Amino acid sequence: MTQDQVTGSAMAALIDSNALNTAAPAGPAGPAGAASAALSHVSMSYDGKLEVLHDIDFKLNEGEFLSIVGPSGCGKSTILRLISGLAQPSKGIVEVASHAGKPSHVGFMFQRDALLPWADVNANIAVGLECAGVPKERHAARIKELLDLLGLAEFGHYYPRALSGGMRQRVALGRLLAYDSDIMLMDEPFGALDAQTKMMMGYELLRIWTENRKSVVFVTHDIEEAIGLSDRILVMSARPGRIKSEYRVELPRPRDLRGVRKLPAFHELSEKIWRDIVA
Ligand SMILES: Nc1ncnc2c1ncn2[C@@H]1O[C@H](COP(=O)(O)OP(=O)(O)O)[C@@H](O)[C@H]1O
Ligand SMILES: [Mg+2]
Repeated sequence: MTQDQVTGSAMAALIDSNALNTAAPAGPAGPAGAASAALSHVSMSYDGKLEVLHDIDFKLNEGEFLSIVGPSGCGKSTILRLISGLAQPSKGIVEVASHAGKPSHVGFMFQRDALLPWADVNANIAVGLECAGVPKERHAARIKELLDLLGLAEFGHYYPRALSGGMRQRVALGRLLAYDSDIMLMDEPFGALDAQTKMMMGYELLRIWTENRKSVVFVTHDIEEAIGLSDRILVMSARPGRIKSEYRVELPRPRDLRGVRKLPAFHELSEKIWRDIVA
């Protein structure tokens, strides 16, 4: 991978929704700093021939944690690309709500951490602050807060190559949080991590989300991860991707991710989603 490609992917993680149609938020105002998004009858074909998404219609509410699960290749990442403005729909409308005439910021976190390899942890997180327009003199204090939050206080001067996969994903999460976007798009962000690290990252993400209540679209192929984290889950069918079913997760919050896995309601929901996916 060239330096330019890496820079490109890091920058793509931090996106301004200027490119999108913006609309006033519908309904009552949600938590400060969160935004809603809506896909209305969206279909998508990358080459004008093969349809990868068909008639996708859903709304992300302000402050909601929404997950999308479905088989590989069904178009989950494409939905995130559409919300971010990195891709345009072939049919239908993608809208991200704006606040008081200002565009909403949309942040993207990828499965592969997309950190800048030649920059240390502090500098990688500073990218998020720069893109958010945080004045330079406030960077050091904010970076320290984020490193404390993510258990990386000792690692500000480490380079990505000297960190474990889990630590690199924490830095990527730190950069996403530094950007302070209204919508966080997370594309299988913990997919490459071992089960235990993945669980720890889930706890951290929920703790941070509970404090900040950003709107989140979380893509995963792990049904149990989706149930543990989410308010609502969209289940997709194989290509062309459609939304096959939708489930509201009624488990209590704050959630103990390990504890909820023992509840009968958790197992019932997991079975239903599994059956939808394999049917
Ligand atoms: N940039 C692209 N150009 C052409 N086809 C693409 C591109 N990105 C994805 N696709 C195709 O679109 C379909 C959906 O891909 P993707 O959204 O990545 O699925 P998922 O994230 O659910 O695995 C796949 O068939 C994939 O090959
Ligand atoms: Mg994908």
